[in-house]
Amino acid sequence: MDIRAAELIEKLAGEHALALDEYEYLVSHLDQEARDLLAEFARAAREPIYGHDVFVRGLIEFSNFCKNDCLYCGIRASNMGCKRYRLTREQILSCADTGYELGFRTFVLQSGEDPHFTDERLCAIVRALKEAHPDCAITLSVGERSRESYAALREAGADRYLLRHETASPEHYAKLHPANLSWENRMRCLHDLRDLGFAVGAGFMVGSPFQTSANLARDLAFIQEFQPEMCGIGPFVPHHATPFANEPAGTLEQTLGLLSIIRLIKPNILLPATTALGTIHPKGRELGMEAGANVVMPNLSPGDVRAKYLLYDGKICTGDEAAECRRCLEMRMAGCGYNVVTDRGDPRIA
Ligand code: 5AD
Ligand code: FES
Repeated sequence: MDIRAAELIEKLAGEHALALDEYEYLVSHLDQEARDLLAEFARAAREPIYGHDVFVRGLIEFSNFCKNDCLYCGIRASNMGCKRYRLTREQILSCADTGYELGFRTFVLQSGEDPHFTDERLCAIVRALKEAHPDCAITLSVGERSRESYAALREAGADRYLLRHETASPEHYAKLHPANLSWENRMRCLHDLRDLGFAVGAGFMVGSPFQTSANLARDLAFIQEFQPEMCGIGPFVPHHATPFANEPAGTLEQTLGLLSIIRLIKPNILLPATTALGTIHPKGRELGMEAGANVVMPNLSPGDVRAKYLLYDGKICTGDEAAECRRCLEMRMAGCGYNVVTDRGDPRIA
């Protein structure tokens, strides 16, 4: 292994921080040995905080309507081949009831940016969900909204919010998004969410088109600086009906290396082994745990809509029911020495 990379890994494990140029050096020298060393330190950092516990979140993909046209995403507005659906409030509540029985204590409500879900409608759903399951955490993942809207959702009882920053480099952001979406507004949203008292999840795709080591270094420096409670990272996976249809997917290896680095930046961070990681490799999520992840997010959406929430091609679990996914993941986790716990899964104190 490269000597300087080894030194930087030790420094990161000790200080939980590196300079921008150091991240760039490390990211461009992630060979197998470097990744193994990172994973070892990452597991050691996670161990005293989370042991072998894995948190689960029940993901409810409640609408695939989206007014945006992100170049990478399969549910972008201009994809006419996408069959659109919306779940009713009753369907959402019934997904959550099923999930509760299966041991989920966090529900993640995710959708495209669907104008049908006004503050009034979304707040009513959050309130009903909280009333039905007061011991559960509610996470929203519904994109960019106004500060007032975020305030209303928080007031209605939402606890957490996932909004990946996608890339911490404004010029890279502009290559992944249409001109009406800006990096500045994304940052505004993340800061508003933080100010309003949400536990915030940032994150980015690994191997997205045009991404350089310098871009990834910025992503890591951003995580170090912003200190989000959660960080969702997974490989970019092309979707056939997008402008990036012919771009290569991100790699398993690079994603695993970055998971370990993020664990070391913030030892108590909530770090999912994502569905995208499970999509590019049959053991992707298990390998994600071994690299330092501590969260999995199985799907609770009803069977008939699952295959329609297709952000990228080949997405796993689109033919399974909630109970099957839960059981499957529990088996997979047990198979590599981890236990799925029935818990809200709040960050534990480092
Ligand atoms: N490949 C991988 N991840 C994707 N996302 C959207 N499209 C893709 C894709 N083609 C991710 C984005 C978004 C999250 C919900 O899914 O990072 O924030
Ligand atoms: Fe969904 Fe394995 S996690 S079937």
